[in-house]
Amino acid sequence: MTVAKIRLGMVGGGQGAFIGAVHRIAARLDNRYELVAAALSADAKRATESAAEVGIASARSYTDFRVMAKKEASRKDGIEAVVIVTPNHLHFDAARAFLEAGIHVICDKPLTSTLEDAEILVKLVAERDLLFAVTYNYSGYPMVREAREMISAGALGAIRVIQIEYAQDWLATNIETTGQKQATWRTDPARAGAGGAIGDIGSHAFHLSEFISGLEVTSLLADLDAFVAGRTLDDNAHILLHFNNGASGMLWVSQVASGKENGLRIRIYGDKAGLEWAQEDPNYLQFTPLGAPRQILSRGGAATSAAAIAATRIPAGHPEGFLEGFANLYREFADEIVAHRDGTALDCVSLVPTIEDGLKGMRFIEKAVASNNAGNIWQSLDS
Ligand SMILES: NC(=O)c1ccc[n+]([C@@H]2O[C@H](COP(=O)([O-])OP(=O)(O)OC[C@H]3O[C@@H](n4cnc5c(N)ncnc54)[C@H](O)[C@@H]3O)[C@@H](O)[C@H]2O)c1
Repeated sequence: MTVAKIRLGMVGGGQGAFIGAVHRIAARLDNRYELVAAALSADAKRATESAAEVGIASARSYTDFRVMAKKEASRKDGIEAVVIVTPNHLHFDAARAFLEAGIHVICDKPLTSTLEDAEILVKLVAERDLLFAVTYNYSGYPMVREAREMISAGALGAIRVIQIEYAQDWLATNIETTGQKQATWRTDPARAGAGGAIGDIGSHAFHLSEFISGLEVTSLLADLDAFVAGRTLDDNAHILLHFNNGASGMLWVSQVASGKENGLRIRIYGDKAGLEWAQEDPNYLQFTPLGAPRQILSRGGAATSAAAIAATRIPAGHPEGFLEGFANLYREFADEIVAHRDGTALDCVSLVPTIEDGLKGMRFIEKAVASNNAGNIWQSLDS
């Protein structure tokens, strides 16, 4: 039986944008979606030109996402889901507009720019019985899922230590003063929210530490830096973590680490073994049982969990990465949407990060800032 493609809309992601194009590719990989409407930019000319470039009919190219939500909801063939890839401060208004119009939402991280807004969205999703995905895309990598399965099966024993770092260098100088699009809003509290690096990439690291370990962060102590002159938001941070099983963790996030490109790395140590995964070499996972030689597990090869196999597209040795990891989330969310559409139970596993994961990310940012501002005091992450 042919399953109708999901009619998809997009907000943000016009000419010159970064992540919108990645979402479009990811949504195409498994042929489950059709991009039919968008508000790709708030600038009318750019929105029209951008829509034409990606094959959206001019009648369904909008400059105002509120108008888009209303008009699409009133069409018989209106969109069933929307992707939000604007700067952070617009996530809330856009997500609310589409949820109120009865449309499922895929939103990039961080969920909103304030914790209060995130809490409102959580309620709205529950009230409307709609689906909401937050694209913490690193959870889509096969070897991340293998690591999660290994820990869940007890391969590491009791988890004691989690070290996670996410280091980049693209904000090592004040490029925001040159008008660089992505830097300009990320260093502006009115558009990024209360977190700089901790919101932009720390939220990914935080999610990954819980996703892989299966644990929850219960408290944190943060020390934030803004090294580049004139910057008000953090561009580097060291954060101590306590997990709910008694494990300790440390999260280092930096966008001023000269020489680092997209250095996301996680190391987890239990009383029986340790493991390590790095995003720049994502097809391999290092696993070292206590007192035994290191093993290198490979995607499509020595990685054997059903979760890793399900997320693997091509044989071992042919690299997969960022786009495929993103696409895995899109594929699973498509299954969720189709089950919702048909009123049936989901008959496969979906590990797509939820609105609750988005809310936790916002709490992480808020508590990290509070800890730093209070003079590096431990903060509970209890709601
Ligand atoms: N998951 C990831 O790995 C990842 C990576 C990069 C960015 N992000 C997130 O994605 C979002 C976008 O980041 P980016 O780097 O692509 O930013 P960007 O500045 O490159 O793109 C933002 C886009 O939003 C558009 N926009 C702004 N206001 C709008 C409005 N009112 N209506 C419609 N469009 C509007 C801009 O014209 C632009 O096309 C951010 O929330 C960011 O945190 C996630």
